[in-house]
This record gives sequence, structure tokens and C-alpha cells, in this order.
Amino acid sequence: LHRLKGRHLLWLADYTGEEIMHMIELTLEMKRRYYSGERVIPALRGRSVGLLFEKPSTRTRISLEVAVAQLGGHTVYMTPGETQLGRGETIADTARVLSRYLDAIVARVRSHATLEELARHASIPVINGLSDLTHPLQAIADMATILEKKGRLAGVKLAFVGDGADNVLHSLLLAGSKLGLHISVATPPEIRPDERILSKALEAARESGGSVEIVSDPYEAVREADVVYTDVWVSMGQESVAEEKVKLLKPYQVDARLMEAAGGGAIFMHCLPAKRGQEVTDEVIDGPWSVVWDQAENRLHAHKAVLSLLIP
Ligand code: CP
Ligand code: NVA
Repeated sequence: LHRLKGRHLLWLADYTGEEIMHMIELTLEMKRRYYSGERVIPALRGRSVGLLFEKPSTRTRISLEVAVAQLGGHTVYMTPGETQLGRGETIADTARVLSRYLDAIVARVRSHATLEELARHASIPVINGLSDLTHPLQAIADMATILEKKGRLAGVKLAFVGDGADNVLHSLLLAGSKLGLHISVATPPEIRPDERILSKALEAARESGGSVEIVSDPYEAVREADVVYTDVWVSMGQESVAEEKVKLLKPYQVDARLMEAAGGGAIFMHCLPAKRGQEVTDEVIDGPWSVVWDQAENRLHAHKAVLSLLIP
């Protein structure tokens, strides 16, 4: 466990399946302890965590602030415009200075390269709170949710229907492939996952006994799926290509017919925020398949697990 202390979390490719599983199990333990009345677990007493956010957030920001409070620590929320970053102070200098005040930085950035630059110059853990490439904290909470709902991870079939180059999908691929899930991605032929992510996921799946496939037919992907997952078609920062993506992704809406095709027992997941009527219908997100509110709640417990493991 001590191996985790002090490490950055930029993407889950840097972590073993065992380490990821440990984060997931601790997530569920944090949740159990919370419900058994242990509202504060002072693992971060006296620690300060900076939240540097270049993009908006409801779940990640609020659940991080509450998570750190429940661990006995303190957060400082920053946006570039309210710091000297907005006037041109470099990421490197910002990382050096923040390292003298804080015990960790969670950053939500437009470009993944900004995280790498922060991590290069920070002497404290830098944790990815969403980049254009990946969203690892989401995947930890999601895997915990699947384990909670399905009782296992290895062997579970997860169908992701929609934007095959999505940052959340990328993290599900990196985590799921190490944990032995069977992941089937249904996406238009014009869209592909990031090649580095895909090759890492294929390699990890070979080792774990899981699998990864990319198909174009959503009905093929959801066949016998345990989990049907989707995300928005237009991610933050993609507004200029919105029209084109919506057109391309039209046939990939998750509706009741698709959920029924998945067969009995399939659950519906979405990292949220959802664009109702685009990637998912009201009938599905509000329907019996949907576990999205439990999924959102688990972000809180996942943050307590990951932060208490990584922050020295
Ligand atoms: N799922 C997620 O990260 O949501 P927010 O953008 O609200 O943080
Ligand atoms: N793919 C979405 C996820 C939001 C949590 C985005 O990047 O906007």
C-alpha cells in the first residue's frame, strides 16, 4: 500500500490491476463505514488539497470538497482566471509554488499535456480530475459501482455505446481491461478510441483474461451485456464540432429498445451530466435499468479512497 503514497494519477495505465482493485475495494469500504455512522475518517487531518479547474464541474468538484472534509482535510478551489495563470505565469512555476502550500493537486484541464507539465514540476501528487484524454477518478467510482451491483468485475460484459473517443470511455478501457472485463464499444466507423489507450487496453486484456472489441452496431455491442454505458456526444471543449458529432452519433442513442436487447439484468450507467434526448432517453435514465444516482454518489466514496491512498 505504501507504494501508492506520493504517486501522481494522470491515467490508470500507470497502475496495476491489483492497485486499481485496491482503490475500488477501499471505495466500497469507505461507503460502508460512512453508512455505519463513521462520518469522518481522519486520514487527511491537516492536509490541504488544491482543486485547479479549467472547466466546469458539479460532481467532481463538490464530491472532492466533501470527500476531503470527511477525511479531516481542507480544499482550495482555483480557476485559472483567479490565479496568476490567467496573466501568463507558467504551469511549471505554478506547480512549484503550489507544492509549497498543498499536499496534492487535483486538476481538471482542457489538455492532458497540462497535467503532465504540472506533474513534471510538482513535488506533490497531481491527480487527474478529467482531461480531454482520460477521467480516471470516474472509472474508479464506476468500477466500484459495477462491483456493488454485479458482485464481480472479472467476466462482466460492459457495452459502451456512443462516442468511441470519449475521455470517460478511455478510462473505462484502461481500468476494465486490467480487471478482466469484456468491453464492447459501439461507435461509428469514423470515430476510434485513442490509439495509445486502445493498444494498452488490448495488451492488458490479454493478460487479465478480459477482452476489448470495437464494433459499429449498438445491438451487437449490447448483446448479453451486464452494463450499458454511455456519455455525452459533445464533450466540454468540443462545441465547434457539435453539429457533426450529433449527426454521426444519432444511431447510437441508448433507448428502451436497446436496453431490452441487452437482456434481463443489464444496468444503465452514465458518468453525467447527461444530455437527455441525445445519447440517452428519459425512459432509460429514469427507468428500472438506471443506476446513475448510485454511480454519482460513489464518486464521493471513491475520492476518499483514492486521496487517502495517494496523499502522503
Ligand atoms: N462526471 C463528472 O465528472 O461530472 P462533473 O463534470 O459534474 O464533475
Ligand atoms: N466526456 C465528458 C465527461 C464529463 C464528465 C466531457 O469531457 O465533457
